[in-house]
Amino acid sequence: MKVFKMTTYKQIFENNRDWVASKTGGDSDFFTKLSADQNPDYLYIGCSDSRVPANEIMGLDPGELFVHRNIANLVCATDLNVMSVINYGVRQLNVKHIIVCGHYGCGGVRAAMQPKDLGILNGWLRNIRDVYRFHKDELNAITDEMKRYDRLVELNVQEQCINVIKLASVQQEFERTGYPIVHGWVFDMKTGLLKDLDLDFEKILRGIQEIYDLTDKKSAK
Ligand code: CO
Repeated sequence: MKVFKMTTYKQIFENNRDWVASKTGGDSDFFTKLSADQNPDYLYIGCSDSRVPANEIMGLDPGELFVHRNIANLVCATDLNVMSVINYGVRQLNVKHIIVCGHYGCGGVRAAMQPKDLGILNGWLRNIRDVYRFHKDELNAITDEMKRYDRLVELNVQEQCINVIKLASVQQEFERTGYPIVHGWVFDMKTGLLKDLDLDFEKILRGIQEIYDLTDKKSAK
């Protein structure tokens, strides 16, 4: 029988006070310092799935990670939300690394593999169906459905990384400072481990700049 840990609404505030005590126990100025400024090196773009807590799996404290999450960790040029987060992260916070982190067992990716009208989700999941179409030959060659699903999770991360790299802010800051570098990861909920897809950021950048070069080199002074 499965045991569920149910946190009641009231309990959350007790948890919060315990957390405050744990943070101030070793450093009474913790929140004074935290409230002064943020200077995170990492921007994390991940899935909204409750089983993938960004700071926790990376072992990072408050202030160390700038976070954006949505269903299936998508980076769409028409999504003002993710575009604003990336722009702020790159232009204002000068993050050094942008991580797109997917996870095996992603419900969004699973849904996009179904030939079904999913109502309001159709438009959002279309992005994943597009990833499938780009990589149709590779995916269709995988006969084991679970393996095909896992591979689509990875390819979705890869394509969302490419979407990040297409952005003017990312290209221009990289030309100027050598950062940010874009990484693709997958979280495995069965083991708790993060897998780095080892995408070659510079190679992808140079590859797509044939078509998506927004560095404005020609007009630069
Ligand atoms: Co997910």
